[in-house]
Amino acid sequence: MAAKIIDGKKMADALLDNAALKIAALSFKPCVAIVLVGDDPASLMYTKKKHDACARVGMESRNVKLPADATQREIIAQVQHLNEDPRVDAILVQLPLPAGVDEDAVLAAVAREKDVDGFHPENFGKLALGIGKIAPCTPKGVIYMLKESGVQLAGKHAVVIGRSRIVGKPLALLLLNEGCTVSVCHSKTKDMGAITRMADIICSAVGKPRLVTADMVKAGAVVIDIGTSKEAEKLVGDVDFAAVSKKASLITPVPGGVGPMTIAMLIENTLVCCENRRKK
Ligand code: GUN
Repeated sequence: MAAKIIDGKKMADALLDNAALKIAALSFKPCVAIVLVGDDPASLMYTKKKHDACARVGMESRNVKLPADATQREIIAQVQHLNEDPRVDAILVQLPLPAGVDEDAVLAAVAREKDVDGFHPENFGKLALGIGKIAPCTPKGVIYMLKESGVQLAGKHAVVIGRSRIVGKPLALLLLNEGCTVSVCHSKTKDMGAITRMADIICSAVGKPRLVTADMVKAGAVVIDIGTSKEAEKLVGDVDFAAVSKKASLITPVPGGVGPMTIAMLIENTLVCCENRRKK
């Protein structure tokens, strides 16, 4: 039977409309600063989408651009300047940073209460403990999509493919916090298919086209495609959509699946940072 397609664009639009109403009722405009170092085309595209979403919901966004040869010290100084700016509620440092810059050092410099991505080690630790207020945007969006689609998470075997800071690791923790049995596969995993075939839920976040093929998927599984790659100028995910959608029960497309949800969650997380800061 053909899988039902989870429409991430529609879900994200509804969340953005709701956020716009919340923001319109405030006496001020929440503000997120987006720090972009260099001119990586994918990062330029992602940050433009983030600024556009802020404009759409009536939120202020600061476009903080640094040259590709900015030093780690300069990037951290910029972050500290934003930490101290009372008009800035949230700070996002777009990843990846140029080679040679220590991402850990930069992310640890973001004020904990303005850390809209939840990448500060203290916030990431709280996420692992299940006591965090902020969850990284893409994994938070995935959990929202699963719940909104009626997927019961507790007791399910979820297999996450990828172990990145941005998606794989935090997603595995969030699924664990929801009561899933979680397996994490990555580049060193042997016989990945043997593991994914046991999964009720497969979340792939690698960036390798056709990594997840139909023979790796149990009939009726839920498949969330978080990968993004360019093939012949087209955006494609990790999943062989045509074949896997004939076997899965629910599946996300690329584009129009997880991508728009990441942006919607950035808006949600900015509002969380804003509420936490301003009620102090
Ligand atoms: N690069 C790709 N996705 C993300 C994200 O969610 N946050 C940040 N900061 N950088 C990214």
